[in-house]
Amino acid sequence: MIKQFVRIFSTIILLLIFSGNVGAEDQKASYTSEQEYLFNIFTSRRSVRAYKPDAIPDEHIKKILDIARSAPTSGNQQPWKFLVVKNRKKLDELKNACIDRSLTRARMSGTLNEEQFKTREKSIRDYYEKTLSAPVYIVVLVNKQCKYPAYTKHDGPLAAGYLMIAARSLGYGTVYYTDSIPEDLTMKVFNIPEQFERICITPLGIPETWPKSPQKKALGEFVVMEKFVKGVNYSEAKIRKAIQLDAKILETYTGKYEFQPGFALTVSLESGRLFAQATGQQKLEIFAESETDFFWKVVDAQINFNKDKTGKVIGLTLHQGGRDMPAKKTE
Ligand SMILES: Cc1cc2nc3c(=O)[nH]c(=O)nc-3n(C[C@H](O)[C@H](O)[C@H](O)COP(=O)(O)O)c2cc1C
Repeated sequence: MIKQFVRIFSTIILLLIFSGNVGAEDQKASYTSEQEYLFNIFTSRRSVRAYKPDAIPDEHIKKILDIARSAPTSGNQQPWKFLVVKNRKKLDELKNACIDRSLTRARMSGTLNEEQFKTREKSIRDYYEKTLSAPVYIVVLVNKQCKYPAYTKHDGPLAAGYLMIAARSLGYGTVYYTDSIPEDLTMKVFNIPEQFERICITPLGIPETWPKSPQKKALGEFVVMEKFVKGVNYSEAKIRKAIQLDAKILETYTGKYEFQPGFALTVSLESGRLFAQATGQQKLEIFAESETDFFWKVVDAQINFNKDKTGKVIGLTLHQGGRDMPAKKTE
């Protein structure tokens, strides 16, 4: 009787806690408390990038991996390996390798003076202290020598997704790390045989804090009911057309635009062509589509130059990966 009361009471509390997360689309339908609970495990999963050092019971790690292996695979081939690393020395080795790689890249860019390099070095070290702060890391791998190797690109991420949801249900954070922890360094530091390919590496631990959800698109942006209708549920990919601008106009855009200390975009004019180079990256030509709007042909990114009332160029906004990043002109 008491047990039943506690169960009903905790279900009500859970529903109250989670009711704020339920989207408008769901409010009309009714679901059981178990269903609501499960849905909220999914929606409350977050990429967590800083952890408490508290150890995780082996039972929990086993349970999470047991759920991961229940994911579907092509032809039921189950090509995974889950490498679990708790050894702090090994994790520190990976952390130092990541730091060295980033510092070398920053140094090689040749765009930072000593003071800017120091600022960048600090932000790199702080970043990797957090990135490698969890007590456990799981490398999700697939065996390239499996029956259907062309399908491991599906099998691998599915297991990683299951793993992340199972971890969330036990109160742990994860992140699907790819570029932040380079694959070659993971393979080398953990001595992973070449026949395996890394899908991702994820920390597993108690979050320092649960981050807020980044902005998510509305459901309506994804759903196409029955058929595609141009202008209604999709818009045609924009084909950008380059126009010719006078070199005198291009000249006004040359200079350095700072997003944050140590990270800037340098715009230069060479033989009537405009180039942009971000800190630590390649110099690439940018093309005008209007007098103030430019785009790269080799990456999906655009620039709008901003002017003050007198027409003087004072900054730019970089659009990339769905983000708008403003930068002030400093030189
Ligand atoms: C294929 C893929 C690659 C990712 N690579 C990285 C990464 O290298 N570094 C990182 O910090 N997050 C990485 N993430 C995590 C995403 O940034 C994160 O899922 C996204 O910002 C949404 O946040 P949320 O997971 O909290 O919903 C990756 C996620 C996916 C699916």
